[in-house]
Amino acid sequence: MYYNLGVALTLPPTFIITLDGLAASGKSSVAYGIAAVLGVPFISSGLVYRLVTLTALENSVDITSQEMLLAMLQQHELQFEARVSGNAVLLDGAAVTSACHSSQVDAAVSSVAQHPQIRAWVNAKIRQLEPPFVAEGRDMGSTVFPDANVKIFLTASSLIRAQRRVSERRQSLSEVQASIEARDAMDAKNSQPAPDAVLLDSSLHSLEETVQQALQIIRQQLGEQPA
Ligand code: DC
Repeated sequence: MYYNLGVALTLPPTFIITLDGLAASGKSSVAYGIAAVLGVPFISSGLVYRLVTLTALENSVDITSQEMLLAMLQQHELQFEARVSGNAVLLDGAAVTSACHSSQVDAAVSSVAQHPQIRAWVNAKIRQLEPPFVAEGRDMGSTVFPDANVKIFLTASSLIRAQRRVSERRQSLSEVQASIEARDAMDAKNSQPAPDAVLLDSSLHSLEETVQQALQIIRQQLGEQPA
């Protein structure tokens, strides 16, 4: 994909951009697009929650038990790799990134993400990474990186989000929309925009346009003139 930047953007070494938003709002694609243009990695925190969830499902661990999930994390090697080209996760050495995007993981991940100590475990893993980067999720700007240089919160209607995701799932449009709305309700507590986040509604915009808008916000924050 080609983005007309106008002015090249170079990030200072400690620069952190957070990109939060609701389920299937296009966060990962927008984060990927911004990060590719800026030449920095993006971090999909949702993928780390998905990896914990997949590990639980594969090992028949009760996802309602924080204690059992924490014990499980001691017994397995969960690896997260954030690269400019994309994110990858490995479970006990095996690549499991695609498996993390199944409808079974979709249905279980919100429950796993409710446990405060699981959230602390994920946050600690992400905070170990070295900036500059684009951190994508629900609470990157509000909780994990409260001092981030740029905070963006992406929204879109649930129908538009379902239409965008339906081709990636073996479900009908109405099933995907219902699953997204159920996740919105479960995730609401941990998905509040940071008070200083810029809200970006992608409902009526293409991915390319949304990436351009996000880059414009970053450019303004860097003090550069619009292209
Ligand atoms: O962005 P995603 O759909 O891959 O996220 C998967 C789940 O992980 C989502 O339902 C909520 C949870 N999540 C979270 O609670 N906090 C984050 N920072 C990222 C994801």
